[in-house]
Amino acid sequence: MKIVKLFTLFLTILTHTSLSFAAGENPTLMKPGWSFQSFFGKFDRASLQRGYQVYTEVCASCHSMKYLSYRNLAEEGGPEFSLEQAKAIAGNFEVVDGPNSDGEMFTRPAKLSDKFVMPYANEQEAKVSNGGAYPPDMSVLVKARAGGADYIYSVILGYEDPPVGMKLDDGVYYNKYMYGNKIKMPPQLYDDLVTYADGTTATPEQMAKDVTTFLAWTAEPKLEERHKFGFRAILYLIILTILVYFSMKKIWSRIETKI
Ligand code: HEC
Repeated sequence: MKIVKLFTLFLTILTHTSLSFAAGENPTLMKPGWSFQSFFGKFDRASLQRGYQVYTEVCASCHSMKYLSYRNLAEEGGPEFSLEQAKAIAGNFEVVDGPNSDGEMFTRPAKLSDKFVMPYANEQEAKVSNGGAYPPDMSVLVKARAGGADYIYSVILGYEDPPVGMKLDDGVYYNKYMYGNKIKMPPQLYDDLVTYADGTTATPEQMAKDVTTFLAWTAEPKLEERHKFGFRAILYLIILTILVYFSMKKIWSRIETKI
């Protein structure tokens, strides 16, 4: 009977770890459900690839992605583009390199080893171009915000008309989920904004889900590895518990017979 109790304890710990994910979130956020959040969760490969497309075609003109290199796009556990595809993607961008033998800087197509090209030269330029607001770097944004993926998804889709009587300055938009309800990012998504390579219909909800999935991966590229490791660790602990239980029973049974 004790062994049953131990199992129940393990199960409680398991469910508890996935529940604590939800604990810190704002209850009013939209929760579309994510394939990667459960205990055994994995990223949806096709969604990651579509999400990259949305990021690069829509968000990358304002939001940088400073920790990612083009080669990451081909690595295991990510969008898993082929090396050829990742090379072709990199080749679409220009980076400044140098100096050459004449002491001059020059531009060349990006390589797999290059970091994602930044949209602005520096923070000041980014602010000036966005009415004084800084579009935050997106590499770890999902981890940096309470509510994580649900928050990002909600903000992208959370534009509404302001309540009657609320005056907004030029370039300021009403957003249900943004802190203080005011955001200096214009609404981004509308039907068919991108043409998905895999033929998926590009509704705002679909694009928001895909780009958020992509951002969840950039924020935690080793998530799948962590889940695999966690699963093995739990399995190991269960087996160990069973062994310990039976050896304990055996040892104590001998002592009991003497009494
Ligand atoms: C025209 C430039 C521009 C584009 C394009 C753009 N953003 Fe933004 N974004 C901004 C600015 C500026 C802010 C900061 C707003 C503020 O602080 O009021 C911002 C803020 C955000 C925030 C809120 C972050 C926070 O601080 O909590 C999210 C989420 C976000 N953007 C997601 C996206 C996504 C996803 C895309 C692509 C689909 C995108 N943005 C495209 C300019 C842009």
